[in-house]
Amino acid sequence: MTLRLLVLLTALFSACGAGQSQQDEAKETPQSMINPEPEPSGSAVVNENGKKIYDQYCVVCHMADGQGVPNAFPPLTQTEYVNGDADRLIGIVLNGLSGEIEVKGQVYNGVMVAHNFLNDQEVADVITYVRSSFGNDASAVTVDQVAAIRAAAE
Ligand code: HEC
Repeated sequence: MTLRLLVLLTALFSACGAGQSQQDEAKETPQSMINPEPEPSGSAVVNENGKKIYDQYCVVCHMADGQGVPNAFPPLTQTEYVNGDADRLIGIVLNGLSGEIEVKGQVYNGVMVAHNFLNDQEVADVITYVRSSFGNDASAVTVDQVAAIRAAAE
């Protein structure tokens, strides 16, 4: 009789214990959703800095969602300029762009001002941010790559 009671109690305790740990796991889930793993391409810090620069210098023309403005400012969403050759993209940010270009089947003929007042780190961060945002999935750009393009333009 005493043994049966002991077994019953032990079973009861472990059942409670299991229930408890399951509850703990359930509580932890939202926390891990608030802090998702950093993107594999470009560290979280780079993307945070890049977003700050984007919001300060690019957003007025290319918009917060990177969609641009029809017939005025081209989108940065999966365009060949954004996801293509990194050196060309660095050149656009540093030196600006003017003249007729075609982006996703639309012709633009505007003027993008040069952003060579940004330092190499800022240019690398904003480009890395753009290349991993708005549905883009292109490689990060390094400070050295930016420095090389800047030197070539001088
Ligand atoms: C004053 C408005 C303006 C600002 C600010 C601006 N752009 Fe542009 N951008 C343009 C225009 C206009 C064009 C198209 C130029 C042309 O028609 O030759 C363009 C073209 C581009 C292109 C190539 C075409 C495409 O859409 O893929 C990229 C990439 C780009 N901009 C990125 C940026 C980034 C990154 C920033 C911030 C560092 C920025 N731009 C800031 C107006 C702007």
